[in-house]
Amino acid sequence: MKHLLVVFHSKTGNTQQLADAVVAGATAADVIGVQVRVLRAADAGPADLLWANGLLLGTPENFGYLSGALKDSLDRTFYEVEGKLTPLPYAMFISAGNDGTGAVRAMERIANGYPFIKIQDPVIVRGEPCADDLEACRQLGQAMAMGIDMGIF
Ligand SMILES: Cc1cc2nc3c(=O)[nH]c(=O)nc-3n(C[C@H](O)[C@H](O)[C@H](O)COP(=O)(O)O)c2cc1C
Repeated sequence: MKHLLVVFHSKTGNTQQLADAVVAGATAADVIGVQVRVLRAADAGPADLLWANGLLLGTPENFGYLSGALKDSLDRTFYEVEGKLTPLPYAMFISAGNDGTGAVRAMERIANGYPFIKIQDPVIVRGEPCADDLEACRQLGQAMAMGIDMGIF
């Protein structure tokens, strides 16, 4: 089995909706060889990153940046995984009021340090998620899981 880790933070539920859609895609019936672990950012530790073959990160954009909870998770794990992590394929999903680009920029800088390797552009959802947004997240989860399963990433 390959391993897909989904780590997210959500305060008012929008990113939670995106995470649920991502997980639905990643656990679809046609993905059989991938185990999915879903964690709130506050609960994700270094062992989870070392377990993973792929990573999906979800966050609201707060003050033009990642949520503090996701940033804290990355801060807490960096030294523990440094030098031990095979560069992890990753992608992100973002819930924003009206922007989201600041969170993307921040994550891309952090990804260079870990290292995480971007496998597709982020899904940025502005405002309350609609059906198309959830479908985009479902597809993100499915694409990541299938890519891991087939050894593409
Ligand atoms: C403290 C705070 C700061 C925020 N800063 C931004 C921001 O810089 N850009 C933006 O587009 N939305 C901003 N928002 C709006 C949130 O990103 C948006 O409401 C998001 O959907 C919340 O996700 P959640 O429901 O998963 O908590 C901010 C919200 C809060 C509470």
